[in-house]
Amino acid sequence: MRTIKDLGDLRGKKVLLRSDLNVPLDKDGAITDDGRVRASVPTIQRLTQAGARVIVCAHLGRPKGAPEARYSLAPAAQRLSELLGVPVPLAQDTVGPSAHATVDALGDGEVAMLENLRFNPGETAKDAAARAEFADQLASLADVFVSDGFGVVHREQASVYDVAERLPQAAGGLVEQEVAVLQRLTRPARPYAVVLGGAKVSDKLGVIENLLQHADMLLIGGGMVFTFLAAQGHEVGTSLLEKDQIDRVKGYLADAENRGVDIVLPVDVVAADAFSADAAHDLVAADAIPADRMGLDIGPESAKLFARRIAGAKTVFWNGPMGAFEMAPYAAGTQTVAQALVDATSAGAFTVVGGGDSAAAVRQGGFDDDDFSHISTGGGASLEYLEGKTLPGLAVLED
Ligand code: 3PG
Ligand code: MG
Repeated sequence: MRTIKDLGDLRGKKVLLRSDLNVPLDKDGAITDDGRVRASVPTIQRLTQAGARVIVCAHLGRPKGAPEARYSLAPAAQRLSELLGVPVPLAQDTVGPSAHATVDALGDGEVAMLENLRFNPGETAKDAAARAEFADQLASLADVFVSDGFGVVHREQASVYDVAERLPQAAGGLVEQEVAVLQRLTRPARPYAVVLGGAKVSDKLGVIENLLQHADMLLIGGGMVFTFLAAQGHEVGTSLLEKDQIDRVKGYLADAENRGVDIVLPVDVVAADAFSADAAHDLVAADAIPADRMGLDIGPESAKLFARRIAGAKTVFWNGPMGAFEMAPYAAGTQTVAQALVDATSAGAFTVVGGGDSAAAVRQGGFDDDDFSHISTGGGASLEYLEGKTLPGLAVLED
């Protein structure tokens, strides 16, 4: 992978920097977790210190190829400016007159931002010609391209993939760091425990298949666990269930058994009568969820069981919360698992928290980034990497 030092002297050069500033916002447009902005800072500083004129480009949310005020990158530009301690002007468009004027106004060592890339339909177009047209316009703004938006390297999009074919390019420091962590997870110190949660089994099928060959144990919680419990023949009430995946999950359970991989499932569950913080809820055995209840968190016995298994591991990868942690009554399972990773880190294990929701959960739980070996900025990207897929945004940086 080419890195920034391969780009030579950057003084006075216009650098188009793809960052991932896709931060969660509350209903008033305030950033609720600035982790991705903070993670973007070191590469920006490295480029400004080298005298480059840095043009940061990024996306926010999934607007449909046209400007929409609620998806403006203004909050991210503001936060970036605070963290850098310098003004960060934000162009009003991505490749139009405002972008050009903003870039022309940049001095050596200064930073500016373009508006949300996804305000332009070419960014995410499936049609390569439509992407190419937008990538040409982006490339015309700069002399070189640096790819540092790790969270989007699994996307074949104009600002991630196509633009790298049009300018001298390199990976930024964040992408380098994230890839080094993922490489370490592919040759883990053992025992290697993987903790998976989140809503959908179908999002994780590929990675589960791959992890059955590499991990020593899989601890499963979150909404996806009910498809596992159903595959074991248990009643799951009104819990999230992907019926069409039950057979596949049965296959995984059998495969794990053959390979000697432990699949550890919850033994108790917090079951509520509605998806709401003030719903009536009780602790029930995982194999006896009442027909009118939905599981919204793993129970305390399960959390203790997971914590014990994590304590025995030398490498831990965690992706996906154990329950509906945004609601206080269903946050305890996620909190206990987070604490178990923190303790394992202190005891010398290599611990990685992968991606958006899990990262937000640990920060909401009051943990510090330094409590873990690594908090990844890319959930989807790290899962696809661990699944063994070729990530377009990384492949294009090889040469
Ligand atoms: C993310 O939030 O996972 C990344 O920023 C990628 O966003 P996307 O899933 O909308 O492509
Ligand atoms: Mg995502």
